[in-house]
Amino acid sequence: MRTYQIAVIPGDGIGVDVTKAAWQVVEAAAAAGSFGIEATEFPWSCDFYLETGAMMPPDGIDTLRDFDAILLGAVGWPAKVPDSVSLHGLLLPIRKAFTQYANVRPHRLLKGVEGPLRATAFDILCIRENTEGEYAGAGGRVHQGQMEEVAVETSIFTRRGVERILRFAFEQASRRSGRLASATKSNAQKYSMVFWDEVTAAMAEEYPSVEVTSYHIDALAARMVMAPESLDVVVASNLFGDILTDLGAAIQGGLGYAASANLNPADDAPSMFEPVHGSAPDIAGLGVANPIAAIWSAAMMLENLGELQAAEAIMGAIEATTAQGIGVSPGADTTDAITQAILRALPSS
Ligand code: NAD
Ligand code: IPM
Ligand code: MN
Repeated sequence: MRTYQIAVIPGDGIGVDVTKAAWQVVEAAAAAGSFGIEATEFPWSCDFYLETGAMMPPDGIDTLRDFDAILLGAVGWPAKVPDSVSLHGLLLPIRKAFTQYANVRPHRLLKGVEGPLRATAFDILCIRENTEGEYAGAGGRVHQGQMEEVAVETSIFTRRGVERILRFAFEQASRRSGRLASATKSNAQKYSMVFWDEVTAAMAEEYPSVEVTSYHIDALAARMVMAPESLDVVVASNLFGDILTDLGAAIQGGLGYAASANLNPADDAPSMFEPVHGSAPDIAGLGVANPIAAIWSAAMMLENLGELQAAEAIMGAIEATTAQGIGVSPGADTTDAITQAILRALPSS
């Protein structure tokens, strides 16, 4: 029997609660299936930073490298540690070090969940570039605190980086409806986004079965609200994809439902699975965080590991739960009540 080794990083705030919930569901799905799964938990978080001076130990990346996958809750507690320190000390280095260049974020309404839109029949798969672009980290500040102060932060778009994310998106589109929307802003950003569009157009030649449309990011944001059913696979640069996927979360009923996979498609390092949401300091400690985003992310992890039946069983249990009206109204059910309902809905073997 195969036993997977998973690095679990609950992180901060509600990250701790939703990761605990997700792990309970993963263990139950594994017990019902024919594989084993073991967690090694790492306490890397803002509290860890306050104790040790770093978000993870210096060999943290090397430690994670040997795992089959990483399950993460959320990172950040701005009242204790600046976000620019905590995220650059843990989450963002993992995405880059393990070349998790494809951040995959599904946006659709679960049964029983009412989103804020009239449209209900949408199923959008956002593919976000996850290692470069606006998040490349190239920049600096000079004359800090002086009138002459300058801050520069340069986006970096490499041919390698742009080609691989677009290829990933074209592949997804060819497996789904054959429709791909590419987020651009080439009317204003005449170097990086013109380059992005050129690579998109060149790759379209290789995928004649995919119909690709380039939308300026502003118009695409509006389209996601006004006509989400007209979209299928959406591909975007790092920052555009970040913003678009909180919007995606909103139209699917809220951040409590938005799952994500940070994939290393070459599979030469672990991929990481985490909800789109953050540590939610406003509700942390109240026991009301919706664990569905984290549990759905865990299902994406099992799917990526090749445990398709277990992944489908979890998705079925999530929807059986929401279809009963559990976990569908913000704050109405506790994290634990939603988790228990999902556990009850899981087939027991
Ligand atoms: P957030 O996603 O934590 O919260 C935004 C809003 O959504 C809040 O009102 C929150 O209560 C609500 N919300 C989020 N998840 C929910 C859930 N599961 N159930 C119910 N409601 C939920 O975003 P923020 O407030 O901008 O960020 C808080 C901290 O988290 C910051 O430090 C930020 O940098 C960090 N952050 C981390 C990640 C990550 O680790 N992947 C993602 C986003 C934000
Ligand atoms: C996300 C988050 C992160 C991002 C932050 C916390 C750095 O918002 O995963 O969407 O911008 O990638
Ligand atoms: Mn985000």
